Amino acid sequence: KHPFVYTQCQCIHARSIFPCQDTPAARIRYSALLNVPRELSAVMSARHVDRRSPVSGEGHSHLLPGGFNSLWCSETRVVEEFQMNQPIPPYLFAFAVGELGFREVGPRTRVYSEAVDSVLDAAAKEFAGTEEMIRQGEKLFGDYDWERFDLLVLPPSFPYGGMENPRMVFLTPTVIKGDASGAQVVAHELAHSWTGNLITNMNNEHFWLNEGFTTYAERRIVEAVQGEDRAILNTGIGWKGLNEEMERFKDNLEFTKLKNNQEGVDPDDVYSEVPYEKGFQFLWRIERQIGRPAFDEFIKKYIATFKFKSIDTHTFLEFLKAKVPGIEKEIDLVLWTEGTGIPPDAYEPVSNLYIKIVSLANEFKLGRMPREDEVADWRGQEWELYLENLPKVIEASQVLALDERYRLSESKDYEVKVAFLQLAIMSQCRNFYGEVEKTLKEVGRMKYLRPLYRALVQGKGKEEDKILAKRVFSEARECYHPIARGVVESIFAKHL
Ligand code: BES
Ligand code: ZN
Repeated sequence: KHPFVYTQCQCIHARSIFPCQDTPAARIRYSALLNVPRELSAVMSARHVDRRSPVSGEGHSHLLPGGFNSLWCSETRVVEEFQMNQPIPPYLFAFAVGELGFREVGPRTRVYSEAVDSVLDAAAKEFAGTEEMIRQGEKLFGDYDWERFDLLVLPPSFPYGGMENPRMVFLTPTVIKGDASGAQVVAHELAHSWTGNLITNMNNEHFWLNEGFTTYAERRIVEAVQGEDRAILNTGIGWKGLNEEMERFKDNLEFTKLKNNQEGVDPDDVYSEVPYEKGFQFLWRIERQIGRPAFDEFIKKYIATFKFKSIDTHTFLEFLKAKVPGIEKEIDLVLWTEGTGIPPDAYEPVSNLYIKIVSLANEFKLGRMPREDEVADWRGQEWELYLENLPKVIEASQVLALDERYRLSESKDYEVKVAFLQLAIMSQCRNFYGEVEKTLKEVGRMKYLRPLYRALVQGKGKEEDKILAKRVFSEARECYHPIARGVVESIFAKHL
C-alpha cells in the first residue's frame, strides 16, 4: 500500500547518495534528519535518536529550492533523527523508509519489516536464536562493539541475501523459510560486525579480508549453535561453488586470485564466491596447520589489533608471520594470496552426512534416485548439496521423476527450488518453465537471478529459451534493483 525505499551502498554506491571519498580506506561518523510521510518510519545504520515533528528552518541550506521549508514542515511529515558515533567506511551507510513494524527478538535485537503481522511473526520465529549467536560471536571474537544488532527484512527486490549494515542488518525476505535455516545468513552478517565492519578491507582488491574472514567466522558460529554437521554441509556447498567459479573465470584468471587487480573494474561485475570460499579455505588451512586453540587466539589478537582500521593483504600477512613465526615455511602464503586457481592444499570437507549426500548424487549418474527413507530427515541444505553435485544435464524424464517424488520445484526454500529449476532448464525439461518465469518475477536476489538467466541463455540452439529470457526480463526489470538489472544485462551481453 505504501512506497518503500532502501539503500545499498556496497561496494561503490555511497557516492550516488552523498558526495564523499567513497573508499573503505576512509571512515566517517554521521548524523541525519530524515523527513518522511507520517504514516511511514525510517531506520538507519545508526542510533535512532528521535521521531518528532519537523522544526522550521532546520536542515536549511542555500542549495535547497524555495518553498522547501514549507514542505519540510507540512503536517503530513515527520522527522526521524539518527546519530552514528562509531566511525564506518562509507559503504556501510544505509537507510530504509516504509510502513515498518517490528518484533523484539532479544535484549539487543528487533526484527523490522513492512508492518504485516504474518511476516513479522514468521521473521521473529526465524530469528529467535539471534542473541545466542551474538554470545557465541563474542566468545570467539571479542565484545560486540555496536550496541544494537537489529534486523530489517526487505521487499523481494533486495539484490543480496544480506548486507551487514552496522546496527541494522538488511536481509532478503527469501531467508524466511520457516525452518530456522535463515539463521545462517544472519550468522554471516553478524560475523561482519567483527570482520569487515571493525576490520575493513583497504579497497576492493582485498575484499577477501572482509568476506573470507566472515565466511570462516560464520561457520564457527554455525558450528557452535547448530553443530559440526551443519557447518560441514555449508563448507561442502561452498567447496562446490568455489570449483564452479573456476570454470566461470577460466578466461579471466585474475579473479580467481584472493588479492586481485581491479583497476578500471566495477566490483559489481566481478562479484563471485572466490573471496568467500577461497578466503575461507586459506584461513581453514592456517587453522589446520597451527591447531584450533592457537588459531582462535590469533584471530582474537588480529581483531583487537586492527579494529576500526582499514588494512590490506600485506598487513595481514605481516601480522600472521609475526604471530606465527615460520608459518611461511609451512604454507605457501604467496601462492594462496596471489596465485590463480585452487591451491593443492585446499580441502574438501569430510563428514558422514556430507559423504553420504555426495555419493548419493554420484549414484544418480548410474540411474539410482535416493529412496524416501534416505532423505526422510533432509532439510534445505541437504537437498542443495545433493542437487549441486548432480550432473549439469540429465534426462528430462529424470527431472520429472525427481520432482514427482520430492516436489523440489515447489520448495519454499529458494536455494533448493532454484538449484532444481536450473537443472530443469539445463536438461531442457520445459514442464517447469512456468515456475521459472514465476520465480524470476517474484524475487530480485541476484543469487537466484544469475543462475536462472544464465541457464536460459547459455549454449547453442535453445532459441526458445533465449526468447523466454528476454521477454521475462523486459516484464520484470522494473521490479529489479538497478544493480541486479545490470547483472542480467551483462549476462545477456555475454551470451546473446
Ligand atoms: N557484504 C555482502 C553483500 C555484498 C557484497 C553487497 C558485495 C555488495 C557487494 C554480504 O555480507 C554477503 O556476503 N551476503 C551473502 C550472504 C551469504 C554469504 C550468507 C549474500 O548476499 O548471499
Ligand atoms: Zn559478507
